[in-house]
Amino acid sequence: MEQRVCGDIEKLILQAVEQTSEAILITDAEGSILYANKAFEETSGYDSDYLIGKNPSVVKNDGAHPPSFYKELWETIKAGRKWHGRMFNRHKSGAIYTLDTDITPVRDKNGELTHFISVRRDITRELQLEKQLVESQKMESLGLLAGQIAHDFNNMLTIILGSVELVLEDTKEGTISHKLLSETLKTARHTAELTKQLLVFARRQETRPKKSCANDLIKEAELILNRLMPKNIDFLMDLETGLWDANLESTQFQQVLMNLAINAQDAMPKGGAMKLTTRNLAAGEDSPWPIPVGEYVLIQLEDTGTGIPQEILDKVFDPFFTTKPKGKGTGLGLSIVYGIVKQHQGEVLVDSVPGKGTTFRLFFPRVK
Ligand SMILES: Nc1ncnc2c1ncn2[C@@H]1O[C@H](COP(=O)(O)OP(=O)(O)OP(=O)(O)O)[C@@H](O)[C@H]1O
Ligand SMILES: [Mg+2]
Repeated sequence: MEQRVCGDIEKLILQAVEQTSEAILITDAEGSILYANKAFEETSGYDSDYLIGKNPSVVKNDGAHPPSFYKELWETIKAGRKWHGRMFNRHKSGAIYTLDTDITPVRDKNGELTHFISVRRDITRELQLEKQLVESQKMESLGLLAGQIAHDFNNMLTIILGSVELVLEDTKEGTISHKLLSETLKTARHTAELTKQLLVFARRQETRPKKSCANDLIKEAELILNRLMPKNIDFLMDLETGLWDANLESTQFQQVLMNLAINAQDAMPKGGAMKLTTRNLAAGEDSPWPIPVGEYVLIQLEDTGTGIPQEILDKVFDPFFTTKPKGKGTGLGLSIVYGIVKQHQGEVLVDSVPGKGTTFRLFFPRVK
């Protein structure tokens, strides 16, 4: 009777190991793989037949950790101690993922190390969501600050503009005073324009989004976009038929497209291609993007330009962040994109490979 219970328990334990969502790997004392569970096969992309007999370094992401990292790991487990840490691994497809890893040494009756059991949990998406949260909190406080400043500037500029206009009317044309006052007026108007744009970023503008099909708005803007693009840039469109509706304000939506297209054009001084894609997207827990689960209208704009270096990727949506020479860019284009998309309860993400190109993705919630 007792034996049967024991057998049952063993079977259940085996099933638990097989079925758990933690990736489990068992190696011998030399590090040769003896067993990989289903979750390990899934997270690594390799099946057991391939893995057995190999070294766990098959999933190693070369260059992600310094040699000292593996040395310390190996020394710890060889000394019979448990190792815990974060590891970057490479999926068969080339994708990099992050694993929270425990490696436990197993000893036999004589105290000899016989096996290592590694239990890994894929935390890639969790980390991405965390990063996205920090990013949106940063943008939120920047928005509050920018909004307050822009609001005060607006009030002060109204007085400056009004006064200068009045004084200018009283001055004779051709005089130095007239010239200087005209310059002052021009600068004040330019400042007012910037302030207005900051207010868009800060979402202090009223919008009246309407249930619309993004494809229709894109087709309306197509002519201008086409005219904007120099001859050496191919402008391609791939619009989903039966695209879902979203709540969109047409002028703001078109401004978003325009700002993204101008950036793409600036990033391809020697020419290239820009592709605008629309898709229906049902994003689940396993979505490759750090966005809440839900149904979205996805607008994607890809270019084959210079790309954006990793170090500045987190800054491109900040107001006044620009890498362009003085007079060429104000650094407000993408903050306006951000403000508008957020005002539409959407998300905007950027992916870039320096030297290859950049992809901006906008996710607008579906409305039925
Ligand atoms: N498609 C892109 N390819 C490469 N870099 C880009 C791309 N889009 C944006 N960037 C980078 O992000 C920065 C910020 O872009 P943003 O549109 O906010 O400002 P800007 O283009 O510099 O100025 P503005 O839009 O106000 O004229 C750019 O200066 C550039 O470095
Ligand atoms: Mg720009």
